Amino acid sequence: MTSPVAPDISELQAALVRRLGATSVITDVADQQRYCRDWHGDVTTGAVAVLRPDSTQAVAQAVRACADLGLAVVPQGGNTGLVLGATPDDPQRQVVLSLERMNRVRQMDPDDFSAVVEAGCILQQIQEAADDAGLFLGLSLGAEGSCQIGGNISTNAGGINVLRYGMARDQVLGLEVVLPDGTILDALGSLRKDNRGMDVKQLFIGAEGILGIVTAVSLKLYPRPEQIETALLGVDSLQSAIALYRRARRDCCDLMTAFEFMPPAALMLAREALPSLTVPIAADHPGYVLMEISGSGLVDIRALLEQFLENVMNDGLMHDGVVAASRAQAANLWKIREAMNEGQAKRGAHLRTDVSVSLSRLAEFVEQAEERLRQAFPQCLTLSYGHVGDGNVHINVLPPVTANAVDREQIIHDAKDCINAVIDEFHGSISAEHGIGRLKRGEFEARLSEPRRHLLVAIKRAIDPHLMLNPNCQIRLDT
Ligand code: FAD
Ligand code: LAC
Ligand code: ZN
Repeated sequence: MTSPVAPDISELQAALVRRLGATSVITDVADQQRYCRDWHGDVTTGAVAVLRPDSTQAVAQAVRACADLGLAVVPQGGNTGLVLGATPDDPQRQVVLSLERMNRVRQMDPDDFSAVVEAGCILQQIQEAADDAGLFLGLSLGAEGSCQIGGNISTNAGGINVLRYGMARDQVLGLEVVLPDGTILDALGSLRKDNRGMDVKQLFIGAEGILGIVTAVSLKLYPRPEQIETALLGVDSLQSAIALYRRARRDCCDLMTAFEFMPPAALMLAREALPSLTVPIAADHPGYVLMEISGSGLVDIRALLEQFLENVMNDGLMHDGVVAASRAQAANLWKIREAMNEGQAKRGAHLRTDVSVSLSRLAEFVEQAEERLRQAFPQCLTLSYGHVGDGNVHINVLPPVTANAVDREQIIHDAKDCINAVIDEFHGSISAEHGIGRLKRGEFEARLSEPRRHLLVAIKRAIDPHLMLNPNCQIRLDT
């Protein structure tokens, strides 16, 4: 896409407005800003324009216009991604294409347990629409008030319900996608079983917008759980938490929907972000587990949870815990888990990781990684938390609040190398759920086997031969 001659931005902007209409094109720098800055505010960039199509046809038209003008397209959902996949890295030659105006629920079908929604629907909006119809979407994450389903599909998001419902990929029955040449792939069916050849829609799930623009999704839904029980438990280590998890999988009839681990620092960070937060458990446990069991129908979920907790308490697997007595109390417990992210953001630039190893080695992995980090960065706050039931943990390293930008950058760089070295020793993944984007491209490419690189490049070149969709995201190719 790139040519050595600097393009005339105002001419390109005028051409976009002419072809797509002024209401769909933002050229004002101040108005563009929120689309050109990542969620943490670590990076602020720019774009030739921000395009806001409001229909699938309009997305196709926008993509064709960009192709004609030699512009690359960076698709953007709620811009909550954590790996710089949705913000441009070449402001003179890229546009942001925001799906935010494509936010209609096209169909909600209780008989089929399915829905068809446009890509720009906010995840929470879909959860609420499903709930109103007596249904449930098995996808939930801290950013659900802002992220969009198109972004969730494009990152194959994980979140807190993966252990019961799987990742975003597992919620997809069909997709509608605009391809880089502006053609529309309509694979929006709601069949649960369909083996007519290769399932090409899978290519676009987790593709981070490098192969096509997802414009609508057909989602698999579940009956709405009528009973949800939430507990916050104190444990004496991550190892005990994982032992507790195994026991819960066996004893709770596979009705467990969430199992989140937090270290004590999580409570402190959550309070820093939200001073009014109440934490109804002693703050000095070495670890905490936020656990949820849910179901519908005739199972007595409260009795199941109480019996389970009594058994594991007697067996010494946990020592303290609170069970939410109402939905409001449960929401307060989840606030702790959500606010700890905001607390970290408030501490300034820091290292966020998103790694996974096999569940059986997770505790050993975290112990080794934390030990090496403690030795190398004694001045930093290291914390490991997350969806440990999936073998996924976020090991984050927060420089001291007094550290300047240069020191922070150095710490982030070195601490990342330190964690990645341990991940490689454990044959784990450097990205369990957030994706590669532009932030992790180097680490990803360095670990790609040749056959896999060959396939990725061949697929990208076959679908996007002019490299116009989200260039430099995931992999870097030259024209
Ligand atoms: P964006 O950030 O806008 O985009 C992400 C990527 O998808 C980009 O590469 C973009 O180009 C591409 N893209 C977006 N929309 C489309 C589309 N319609 N078609 C094609 N490509 C598109 N992630 C998890 O997996 N689990 C978590 O538990 C989790 N918790 C989070 C908590 C917080 C507080 C925050 C800020 C983030 C969290 N995330 C989590 C990360 C993030 O929310 C997810 O990656 C989410 O799926 C991104 O959705 P989005 O709409 O914001 O996408
Ligand atoms: C979480 C995000 C960071 O689990 O993935 O909080
Ligand atoms: Zn996560």
